[in-house]
Amino acid sequence: MIKRILTGDRPTGPLHLGHYVGSLANRVRLQNDYDTFVLIADIQALTDNFERPEMLEANVLEVATDYLAVGLDPAKVKIVVQSMVPELTELTIYFMNLVTTATLERNPTLKEEIKQKNFTKGLPVGFYTYPISQAADITIFKADLVPVGEDQLPMIEQTREIVRRFNRLYKKILVEPRAMVGQVARLPGTDGGAKMSKSLGNCIYLGDSSEQVRKRVMSMYTDPTRIHATDPGHVEGNPVFTYHEIFNPNKAEVDDLKNRYLKGTVGDVEVKEKLYLALDSFLEPIRARRAEHAAKPDRVKEILVEGTRKGRAVARDTMEEVRAAMKIAYKF
Ligand code: TRP
Repeated sequence: MIKRILTGDRPTGPLHLGHYVGSLANRVRLQNDYDTFVLIADIQALTDNFERPEMLEANVLEVATDYLAVGLDPAKVKIVVQSMVPELTELTIYFMNLVTTATLERNPTLKEEIKQKNFTKGLPVGFYTYPISQAADITIFKADLVPVGEDQLPMIEQTREIVRRFNRLYKKILVEPRAMVGQVARLPGTDGGAKMSKSLGNCIYLGDSSEQVRKRVMSMYTDPTRIHATDPGHVEGNPVFTYHEIFNPNKAEVDDLKNRYLKGTVGDVEVKEKLYLALDSFLEPIRARRAEHAAKPDRVKEILVEGTRKGRAVARDTMEEVRAAMKIAYKF
């Protein structure tokens, strides 16, 4: 039987290069070999945006447009809108019985986000429990494989725990999924921080114009110990070189720049100029496809309706099995 993929993104804005190397590239590569569902997780986005829900609709379309721009083929991939599959909410509630607060407290990604978001009016239960809702996302589709960025690994581990518990307790109907991290596990931000993230403002977006890419590259963090172009520099941990390695297909050029940087015979401007050119030619076809789709929002909406319809059919089937396994499929 053909194996299934489920993965997704929160629609909090357009997608960036970190999304691409962490997960989108894998999805595009695997879409021919797997029955693929990609979830636009607007309910999850709501858990930390419930005070400004009006941003969601436009962002759902942004993310869908990014998917099509990187080459996800709507003839193969089902793009599903989370809030349009209410069965997900039902499964989340059942799963809540199978998770302890102690387990959530230990989730490193959740911990990190709670710290970063600094909820001033207390921690909303909706946010605290989103890993459970994410487990429902994955299992309702009976996914075998979840292509995700490294930061999502604790969510997949939580999902596997829930599945084992459910299958032992009720009936063995759910699939224990496996995570797949991109070849580059974590893309640093343009500020040299560990992670490219919208909330940190250190991103290069897939839809950025040539001019924007240039600006972002030219102001990138490099090697703080290097004052003059003639100082020997550091390549290790220098995000400009990390990006070169990932996005510049001209390996000879990258090696030459590295050697000269280490010796102090090349300036930051030249290294960045060449990175800009490499990134821009990587992004150009994506940008062009993005513009095509952005010009036809009605077509994008149709793709979402169609993908969601197919996704919901799978979700309904799984829920019938779940209710039967849990002995709540009453005959009255
Ligand atoms: N938590 C993911 C993110 O922030 C988005 C997401 C929601 C997801 N549901 C999912 C990822 C299911 C993989 C599988 O990017």
